[in-house]
Amino acid sequence: MLNHYIGLMSGTSLDGADGVLVDFSGGKPQVMATATESFSDDFRAELLALNSPGHNELHRAALAANRLATVYARVVKALLAEGAAQGVPASQVQAVGAHGQTVRHQPPHSPSDASQPAHAAYTLQLNNPSLLAELTGLPVVADFRSRDMAAGGQGAPLAPAFHQGVFGQEHATVCVLNLGGISNLSVLPAAGKGSVLGFDCGTGNALMDAWCQRHTGQPFDAGGAWAASGKLIPALLASLLDEAYFALPPPKSTGRDLFSMDWLGHKLAAFSRERPEDVQNTLTEFAASPCVTGVNSYAKDSKLLIVCGGGAFNQHLIQRLQAGLPQLRVESSQLHGLPPLQVEAAAFAWLARQAMLGLPGNLPSVTGAAGPRVLGAIYPA
Ligand SMILES: Nc1ncnc2c1ncn2[C@@H]1O[C@H](COP(=O)(O)OP(=O)(O)OP(=O)(O)O)[C@@H](O)[C@H]1O
Ligand SMILES: [Mg+2]
Repeated sequence: MLNHYIGLMSGTSLDGADGVLVDFSGGKPQVMATATESFSDDFRAELLALNSPGHNELHRAALAANRLATVYARVVKALLAEGAAQGVPASQVQAVGAHGQTVRHQPPHSPSDASQPAHAAYTLQLNNPSLLAELTGLPVVADFRSRDMAAGGQGAPLAPAFHQGVFGQEHATVCVLNLGGISNLSVLPAAGKGSVLGFDCGTGNALMDAWCQRHTGQPFDAGGAWAASGKLIPALLASLLDEAYFALPPPKSTGRDLFSMDWLGHKLAAFSRERPEDVQNTLTEFAASPCVTGVNSYAKDSKLLIVCGGGAFNQHLIQRLQAGLPQLRVESSQLHGLPPLQVEAAAFAWLARQAMLGLPGNLPSVTGAAGPRVLGAIYPA
């Protein structure tokens, strides 16, 4: 049975591209190969710059898209080599799902907010799927988010349907929290007990990474050790949480458009004398707090929170989540069959499969779209 797909994810953390080769022929998806390539410092800086308006950005965005496609192609090549060693030749791979690099995410406002003009919503992932198809010789599926948004949805999060298939349980509500640059929560009810919910909680690693880079020169706070060495600044936390996004009901999604370094700079203006490690401690609490609120608001009965994404390795952040949610167990996705950095990439392999089979990939109960839609555009080999 030809049921192998590659998924490529490069998220808002801007750390690099994660790839998986997945076999979907069994009951649960089986990861046959994994590969990762970190972005170079200059490429990460350019992608970060492209998240804000800038000089000659169309040209720079096109070049960055080409460069991303070459990173993706090297990840695919590594996956195919490992897959071949596992007995899966390239000829058995049906397609590559390539998320692209989000540089703008402007979803429709909530239905209660009439201030947004019609047709103002869009989401933009830099990518060059044609070049990727050319470089890999494989069909590529890309631009997964736009169709959901065209149908009135948020275009995000798209992983909850996959989370449901992999982590959902028949008799219990399970929460899945992806801690990428932005955090997103999936609430997976027990079979027959309602619809899947999912939304972006707030920032995950994005602001912690930026603060850590600025003050320590490291791209992230390994294990959260630096944050753990600092103290909470309650007034700063209150100021950070004083943002309309947190009061919105789902469906909702966000990105660096809102939670930018400029946004953080404004919030920090009144706290310039604070020690950097205390700010990092507070930013970590700021990452945890909306997730705790989200679980308490939408999954009161849940006894299990599965964490994935790179933030799952931030032990201090995980401790803060567990402290805020004593009623449930916080566990790494590793214990539930998929290591943290493979979950989102595998979701895009699954979304590519859905597209190739002509099946919907979104959940209207999550994104708010008018209905189920086949997501993505297919670029033949
Ligand atoms: N050992 C670690 N300790 C603390 N944080 C870590 C560690 N390893 C990874 N991270 C964090 O995880 C981030 C990468 O996570 P991930 O790749 O899941 O995010 P992403 O690329 O934004 O993905 P997405 O947007 O799809 O969720 C890093 O930028 C860093 O903040
Ligand atoms: Mg990443």
